[in-house]
Amino acid sequence: MAHATSPDAGAEPLSAVRLRSEVGGSASMWTDLRVVAETGSTNEDALKQAVDGAAEGLVIAAESQTAGRGRQGRRWLTRPGAALTFSVLLRPQPVQRAPRGWLPLLAGLATAAGLRQRTGVDARLKWPNDVLVGDLKLAGILAEQCGDAIVVGIGVNVLGREDDLPVATEMSLERCGVDLTDLTCLLAAILRELEARYRRWCEVGPGEVDASGLREEYRSLCDTLGRAVLVQLPGDRELAGLAVDVDGAGQLMVRPRRGELVAVSAGDVIHVR
Ligand code: BTN
Repeated sequence: MAHATSPDAGAEPLSAVRLRSEVGGSASMWTDLRVVAETGSTNEDALKQAVDGAAEGLVIAAESQTAGRGRQGRRWLTRPGAALTFSVLLRPQPVQRAPRGWLPLLAGLATAAGLRQRTGVDARLKWPNDVLVGDLKLAGILAEQCGDAIVVGIGVNVLGREDDLPVATEMSLERCGVDLTDLTCLLAAILRELEARYRRWCEVGPGEVDASGLREEYRSLCDTLGRAVLVQLPGDRELAGLAVDVDGAGQLMVRPRRGELVAVSAGDVIHVR
């Protein structure tokens, strides 16, 4: 990892000092905040730190990633200074495997909430945690597990017009008409929202997503629910049907035209109508 310097263009460099005070200082769960100018992947860096025994609460943010990772083994490409890219390290207490499925979903809720608060965009979710504006993707989230640690990596497209975003289906804050140069402030907002939901999820109980209010919040922000979907499942299989709900394990419940309700734990969702 290199030390932080100015990004190539656009936004102001991230400030670890301001971040510390804006997440709430020593009362915050984010106890180790690191900003780097360039790295391969903040997820990879945080996973390495996890293996070396780093405590929960580590945040690594990069002005630029050269080998960003996306979901399903894809790459996450962004121009230097054109995206907010960071990863957090969590170590939830031992719980049954299934309820951990809610962590990526609550990270999506927090990202959408932070974006709505700081930029006013109508950020919504596509299951499990793509952050959309309209039908276009503004932010992506990759959760990776390593022993009892979970690294949640978040990438928000900040700069980029229609013709220079990496994929045609992507959105940026610039494309939404938001001129945001202070990314420290946006990062702090997302971290605060993430901390609030993560604490609630841990305290109320990872399986208790109704009691913690997380399922209700997810239902209200998730555009996938109630829509006809095509799910591309691992192993080149597809499932078409109506997305009816998310269950207590964070799985998407899909009602095919014929047959029983199917619980989907991994896959790419396409909104059909
Ligand atoms: C996706 O939608 O495919 C997930 C994209 C996740 C990208 C973020 S950027 C910060 C962190 N580091 C990575 O290498 N990936 C995640």
